[in-house]
Amino acid sequence: MVPYKKLYAGGILLVFLTVGIAATNPPEEEEGHYKNLKVLPKKISEDDMERVMAGFQRQLGVTCMYCHMPAKSETDLNFDSDEKKEKIIAREMLKMTLQLNKKYFNRKIDKRILTKPVVWCRTCHRGFPRPWR
Ligand code: HEC
Ligand code: HEC
Repeated sequence: MVPYKKLYAGGILLVFLTVGIAATNPPEEEEGHYKNLKVLPKKISEDDMERVMAGFQRQLGVTCMYCHMPAKSETDLNFDSDEKKEKIIAREMLKMTLQLNKKYFNRKIDKRILTKPVVWCRTCHRGFPRPWR
């Protein structure tokens, strides 16, 4: 006779294994899913994006929410919104800083900011959002 219990247990184990593998190996996040980039390249990878944003955060001594709006929902994190003036200023600062490097220091910065800039946000900000304070 077929040992039903064994088959059943095996089936359950297989389901757990499959679910487990799916959970530890999420499919690669597709590139180019950002909605509102005007300076950084549209096809920037998630790793590069996080590195650049974490840099802003550290160099200005702020959190993401200094420039970004609170999330609308769990699926819409609202990072693409331009509602906060700090984000608009930051975008102009980014343009200015890239220009400074290129024009005055002869350092052309890769669009994903892989090249180390000579002048970067920290040069003026030194860990504060408002450099004169
Ligand atoms: C100093 C301001 C500033 C801080 C702090 C900051 N960001 Fe940003 N973020 C920007 C700017 C400016 C852009 C748009 C860049 C562009 O137009 O190329 C942006 C774009 C983004 C985008 C792309 C949104 C889209 O779909 O267009 C994501 C995601 C993002 N930021 C996440 C974060 C996270 C996560 C943090 C915190 C670790 C963070 N940011 C901190 C200024 C900031
Ligand atoms: C050459 C110096 C310099 C560099 C480099 C620089 N900033 Fe600034 N930043 C300033 C000054 C000065 C102010 C204040 C301007 C004012 O009060 O009108 C400022 C203001 C800001 C503000 C507005 C702060 C507030 O709350 O009013 C943001 C956001 C900002 N910078 C982001 C950045 C980011 C991001 C970078 C790097 C990509 C950067 N800055 C690079 C000099 C600089």
